[in-house]
Amino acid sequence: MTSGAKLQEEHLKPQSERGGVVVLDFGGQYTQLIARRIREQKVFSAVLPCTTSVEEIRKYEPAGIVLSGGPSSVYDPDAPKCTPEVLSQGIPILGICYGMQWITHTLGGNVEPAGRREYGRAQLHFESSVGDHGSLLFKNYPHGANVWNSHGDHVRSLPTGFRCVAKTANAVGAIEDVQRKIYAVEFHPEVNHTDRGTEILRNFLFEVCQAEPKWSGTAFVEETVQAIRQKVGEKWAICGLSGGVDSTVAAVLVHKAMGNRLTNIFVNTGLLRKNEFEDTLSMYRERLGLHVIGIDATDRFLAQLKGITDPEEKRKRIGREFIAVFEEAARNLQQGEAHGEIGFLVQGTLYPDVIESVSVKGPSATIKTHHNVGGLPKKMPFALIEPLRDLFKDEVRRIGKDLGLPQEILLKHPFPGPGLAVRLLGEVTAEHLKLLREADAIVREEIKRAGLYGKIWQAFAVLLPVRSVGVMGDGRTYGLTDDAMTADWARLPAEVLEKMSLRIVNEVQGITRVVYDITSKPPGTIEWE
Ligand code: XMP
Repeated sequence: MTSGAKLQEEHLKPQSERGGVVVLDFGGQYTQLIARRIREQKVFSAVLPCTTSVEEIRKYEPAGIVLSGGPSSVYDPDAPKCTPEVLSQGIPILGICYGMQWITHTLGGNVEPAGRREYGRAQLHFESSVGDHGSLLFKNYPHGANVWNSHGDHVRSLPTGFRCVAKTANAVGAIEDVQRKIYAVEFHPEVNHTDRGTEILRNFLFEVCQAEPKWSGTAFVEETVQAIRQKVGEKWAICGLSGGVDSTVAAVLVHKAMGNRLTNIFVNTGLLRKNEFEDTLSMYRERLGLHVIGIDATDRFLAQLKGITDPEEKRKRIGREFIAVFEEAARNLQQGEAHGEIGFLVQGTLYPDVIESVSVKGPSATIKTHHNVGGLPKKMPFALIEPLRDLFKDEVRRIGKDLGLPQEILLKHPFPGPGLAVRLLGEVTAEHLKLLREADAIVREEIKRAGLYGKIWQAFAVLLPVRSVGVMGDGRTYGLTDDAMTADWARLPAEVLEKMSLRIVNEVQGITRVVYDITSKPPGTIEWE
């Protein structure tokens, strides 16, 4: 992965992403929800760290800027800050919670440190002085509606030019400076506990910002395709496919833009699930019409893993070998089949891969490394094409659907880059891989048969080579999860578990015991290694 700045430089901004809303993140727990609520209104939105420069923000040509909530007090020594220039661009602003406090504090008003956090429902009452003049932000909004608060400090006196629009029992609820088009609320319109909060966001988007509701999957596809064509010119591109939804959607989008000048590389590490390599390869080629080079590098990976039991060492070796195989394939391609310069590398990076969501305090936004094993190094001689980097998983699935991808790929469970190597405790051998593959296939078959596959985040088998009682298989399924940061084990019906267990011990020679893991995350992790 490259640094955030580099990624942004390479970033494509199609027309439907311009005229959207930039959400500047002060580290609030609801920041991503704000972005999603805006996109639900067909207006594009991107979350950027609060320290993003005005120049970078302007690249989005935003119709509006939202300043998110956050856990800090404006008086904290390391309180997150935007550049105050953000407020003087003539771009309409909506501050939410900490966003409102930061605006007040920055423009010369007074924020009062609170003794304790105010958390929960409150009634919003409009100031009588606002009466006849109304407030665009609250057009058609009812007096006395319930709103959701979660703040410590509150606004005590307003900066010059502002008026108080509404109050709750304990605090200033909403303020505005119509001249400067700066609006702010102390509560959270983006959460469901706020009555008709979406109407407030809609008023901001369509009354204040006059944004156009033009962002949709179809517009995104068309414009991304155009932007990719412009960007690549006559050059060629390569893409590493993993068999998962993200890289597939990215490849299909880029293929739409440049046809067979995009060559995809799909590596069989020998650590994939039963029939995964063959089935996925034929789906890529026959159903999606992608140009894919399939490389069976099983022996190379197994040789690298010989004698290795430490999970981190397994990950490292697999990552290294993957890069070597990919680089070789790219070189061969350049010297052979490619009739032009291969200038671009396509990656299915999503928004959650770019920024660790919750506490973004600026450029320090971390990039996940742990989950990136199987990724490619930053020093590759290609510019990046990452058409999905502003999107969430469910949005990518929707776009995949618009692109006509089959259900089996859209609903596919996540699968780690190091594959079965981290689901097989101890040394990775061909014999153990075979056992695990068979048991894993039964686990998934039975879950599909019970109609539960689409309701579960991940389901898989883990091989525990405990010799005293024969080799054990462990079934593992996760039901609810919030993008895998937390996960609860799935309450599978006993009959389904029974069927799995019976089939595994009967059909997989060498497994004599099956257990079901009911550990949640945290404290557990989804994978065993
Ligand atoms: P954990 O085990 O950390 O897993 O709870 C969270 C999610 O990440 C996947 N995972 C990985 N993905 N390389 C990957 O590409 C890895 O090394 C890796 N380890 C875990 C896991 O399957 C789950 O979806």
